[in-house]
Amino acid sequence: MKPTTPPKTYRVKSFGCQMNVYDGERMAELLAEQGIAPAPEGEDADLVVLNTCHIREKAAEKVYSDIGRLTKGKTQQKAPMIAVAGCVAQAEGEEIMVRAPAVSMVVGPQAYHRLPEMLDKAVRGERSTDTDMPPIAKFDALPARRKIGPTAFLTIQEGCDKFCTYCVVPYTRGAEISRPFKDLVTEARKLVEAGAREITLLGQNVSAWSGEDDRGRACGLAGLIRMLAGIDGLERIRYTTSHPADMDDDLIAAHGEVSKLMPYLHLPVQSGSDRVLKAMNRSHSAESYLRLLERFRAARPDLALSGDFIVGFPGETDAEFEETLRIVDQVGYAQAYSFKYSPRPGTPAATMDGQVPREVMDERLQRLQAALNRHQVAFNQASVGKSCAVLVERKGKLDGQWLGKSPWLQSVWFTGTAAIGDLVDVELIEAGANSLEGRLSRVGDAQQTA
Ligand code: SAH
Ligand code: SF4
Ligand code: F3S
Repeated sequence: MKPTTPPKTYRVKSFGCQMNVYDGERMAELLAEQGIAPAPEGEDADLVVLNTCHIREKAAEKVYSDIGRLTKGKTQQKAPMIAVAGCVAQAEGEEIMVRAPAVSMVVGPQAYHRLPEMLDKAVRGERSTDTDMPPIAKFDALPARRKIGPTAFLTIQEGCDKFCTYCVVPYTRGAEISRPFKDLVTEARKLVEAGAREITLLGQNVSAWSGEDDRGRACGLAGLIRMLAGIDGLERIRYTTSHPADMDDDLIAAHGEVSKLMPYLHLPVQSGSDRVLKAMNRSHSAESYLRLLERFRAARPDLALSGDFIVGFPGETDAEFEETLRIVDQVGYAQAYSFKYSPRPGTPAATMDGQVPREVMDERLQRLQAALNRHQVAFNQASVGKSCAVLVERKGKLDGQWLGKSPWLQSVWFTGTAAIGDLVDVELIEAGANSLEGRLSRVGDAQQTA
């Protein structure tokens, strides 16, 4: 590669989960600290960071089409310097270097604090790859948080030891590690000082977080939530994604006791069939999952539930798929994500017998999504008539229109006088599949829930 002038502007494109988005924000802060400015919307960037996701084949292949478009002048007029970050970088490292000569830097999700050094090399014309996985070092090396909107992500835990047989995350993100309690309290305070009123705690297995509190006592996610709830100015706490194996009594109790903890739980089940769950190496059965949800609902009766599903796992029969439809009806999810099984290189399921044909997967996904959609509409309709607080996140398209989230993570729009970051009280008056209309009751510090 030829030496080049240092980039003046950057753009970070994140393709993956919320943790990937958090990493994207932190990389942006790191580049800003190097004196590089975010490229204005619609204008060319000198440096483009593709912050990739490896979870399904489609997501992983996207990086190569994006590189092609960037170098062929389809995305911007002048080809930028390109860095590939995120989980594809971790999984394919050197392969990207070979397949895409236009890429200057390949940096894994645990190594992106080293971007500045890699950038210096790139300016000198040297390409570099860093996919080391040093535990935690990244967070200590990152700059302080900057001004952000009313909602913020905070990664508290990374990695996964669960090894579900379909999943790449244990390979791309490494073993489960928890960030120290005091670092998290400090980062949460900084986020609130910077304008956050809601913080979503993130982890591939967020409920596996463990640490020691400020008095040196062993502490789990519930303890951390209780501590964060004491921060003035922080109004809402959420967390995602949980694994059924890590949900403890204290966390269940916290849902009933901590008013700042929002009544929403994303708890993926993946399948309703015990045989499939076993083949997936999930540690729960359909029955144990349902019993766990009952305990959460006893603690917090208005809890909105969300989940993830995979259809067409190798060997899944029609009857087993029907069991997934059954659990969907039993739970009545407020919202959910569903995917066709995608074989991932290096995972045990990729070489299992009984790979399900594409047409069968398509049909199952359609049926599952129709069922999930039915429940989502029903949940939204059942909210009509309730009063709740909405955290205003942005302006709507029309004059005087605002958009925000209900405690149950529904998108709510309303018209009236408000500002971004306000917690306003609204009455929910009309429900659609994906959003609700609210009528403003009063501006100011409203009650959190109905
Ligand atoms: N740690 C979380 C999920 C992380 S990945 C958990 O255990 O629930 C997000 C979702 O992607 C998973 O819940 C699963 O539904 C889906 N997923 C993961 N690997 C997949 C694959 N190979 N094919 C299709 N969907 C997959
Ligand atoms: Fe993947 Fe399973 Fe770990 Fe979730 S718990 S990240 S699905 S291996
Ligand atoms: Fe994708 Fe990596 Fe997240 S594979 S889903 S970006 S952990």
